[in-house]
Amino acid sequence: MVTEQEVEAIGRTLVDAAQPLPARFRALFTLRNLGGRAAVEWISRAFGDSSALLKHELAYCLGQMQDEAAIPVLIRVLEDTAQEPMVRHEAGEALGAIGNPEVLDVLKRYSQDPVVEVAETCQLAVRRLEWLQNNQEQAGSSPYRSVDPAPPSEETDVAKLREILLDESQELFERYRAMFALRNVGGQAAVLALAEGLRCGSALFRHEIGYVLGQLQDEACVPQLTAALCSRAESAMVRHECAEALGSIARPGCLRALRAFAADEERVVRESCQVALDMYEYENGAQFQLSCYLPPQRSSPAAVSWICPFSLPGSALPARSVARGLDQVGSAWHVGACCGPAGPGPALGWCCPVGSSVLRS
Ligand SMILES: [Fe+2]
Ligand SMILES: [Fe+2]
Repeated sequence: MVTEQEVEAIGRTLVDAAQPLPARFRALFTLRNLGGRAAVEWISRAFGDSSALLKHELAYCLGQMQDEAAIPVLIRVLEDTAQEPMVRHEAGEALGAIGNPEVLDVLKRYSQDPVVEVAETCQLAVRRLEWLQNNQEQAGSSPYRSVDPAPPSEETDVAKLREILLDESQELFERYRAMFALRNVGGQAAVLALAEGLRCGSALFRHEIGYVLGQLQDEACVPQLTAALCSRAESAMVRHECAEALGSIARPGCLRALRAFAADEERVVRESCQVALDMYEYENGAQFQLSCYLPPQRSSPAAVSWICPFSLPGSALPARSVARGLDQVGSAWHVGACCGPAGPGPALGWCCPVGSSVLRS
């Protein structure tokens, strides 16, 4: 398992403003995947940073971790009007993602915030929490392993979902439900329907479309994402999400706009393009995958964390992903997989829990 000193080393990279932003993002994702109190504390410490992009990602990760220990810091960020709207938005969304109804009063209060992105986010979070109180959400119901701001609609017909998605007279929560259902259905028709949403009302709605298109990683929406990124009239929060989506789609057609806007005058757009170009390089570098397996046991062992060796601070090698949790593969337990550049790589044995084996493919 990962030691306290290793968590600390990763935390120090995250809070160190002198480190390149992509390295800090990798440290953040590693902490998110490790989880636990120390990880929450390190992530919470970075809210004093000057990068709105980094801070919004901190809040996002705290929400995805669903650790109630993060509730006080997220409330402080939501209440702090000196924080950028995008950061406050993500704090509100994270409070909804954690799923504890004790934050309902705070969220209801900020549902009237003068900053429309914050108000809409809190309205959605209130609806999500109320929905959770009435419905037992299936754990892991998102095929993308994300905790979404709204549950997917039960409808699966793309044409019907598209209609709800684009109907601005519908409640935002219902349009979000249609959005996540379209994502889960997938395929080109769903992707193109979602991409139409980039021209709908509400910056919050359009930025969420960008996020979902990034999850789908379908090349069909590259022109629409590029158009939104290139539009200086578009909100920075939307342009940011479109840049990151282009980075995760990672095809040559994404590169031109990302390079062009890596020098944008909006800091959050500039930094998003830099992080996206970094993601692009991961996706396209020669890589191999490491998978970690636990020997078979009679019943499922408790969830274990492991850390991808490529994400270690000081390592020149980037980590694509770090996984937490277990899947049964044959009689063994698959702990997770991560990708690194081809080559000899660092010593690998320690990154998996004791008694497990590492396979390279
Ligand atoms: Fe967001
Ligand atoms: Fe974002």
